[in-house]
Amino acid sequence: MKRLPGRFHAVVFDLDGVLTDTARYHYLAWKRLADSLGIPFDEAANEHLKGIDRMGSLNLILGDQAAAYSPEKKIALADKKNDHYRQLIATMTEDDLLPGARDALLLTKASGLKTGLASVSKNAMTVVKALGIAELLDVIVDAARITHSKPHPEIFLTAAAHLGVVPGHCLGVEDAIAGVRAIKAAGMIALGVGDPLVLTEADLVISGLHHFTLDVVERPAQ
Ligand code: BG6
Ligand code: MG
Repeated sequence: MKRLPGRFHAVVFDLDGVLTDTARYHYLAWKRLADSLGIPFDEAANEHLKGIDRMGSLNLILGDQAAAYSPEKKIALADKKNDHYRQLIATMTEDDLLPGARDALLLTKASGLKTGLASVSKNAMTVVKALGIAELLDVIVDAARITHSKPHPEIFLTAAAHLGVVPGHCLGVEDAIAGVRAIKAAGMIALGVGDPLVLTEADLVISGLHHFTLDVVERPAQ
């Protein structure tokens, strides 16, 4: 922990699936839509949607059939998924922070590092407010502030710029394949949260933020 401030000056956290289990809600909402369309969709396919914006995700689900849907129809389908998702997040509270999430933010700040949030979700502010973590974040970059979804590095680069920290001194924390790619493309160190067999491009993977310590992130991936 003492060595870290020399290397990292900021930690930029993803939201869905890292600080709270909304990745599950996104999956359930997409699953409901896919089922209604008769399109096979499972958790393995969902791994490739994590971190991808709403319309990008819909196009991945539609696959070869995407071209058969008009832009208006696609917007209606994306809205439907969002209605399902908003129903699922409507009752969220501070209790929906994942184990270790608040402590990870507090530890980062207590260690003199800045905290950022990088989420491509248009619902990110709603979730952040429900979780009561806005005051623990020095910058929040959501869908409204970016043009490109992950795996493009824009969202992490924007967070770093607002924090006044060079990307090489930032740690990015992600549960998504696309998110880890965005972190690496931004020139940051990537801490994966989830399965090391899925997040193969991360520098280090932990199973959840209950394992987040600044010592853990000091060690390179094996
Ligand atoms: C990301 C999720 O955080 O936000 C994706 O990992 C989701 O699964 C994306 O598609 C966009 O979210 P929203 O709330 O704008 O539909
Ligand atoms: Mg995520």
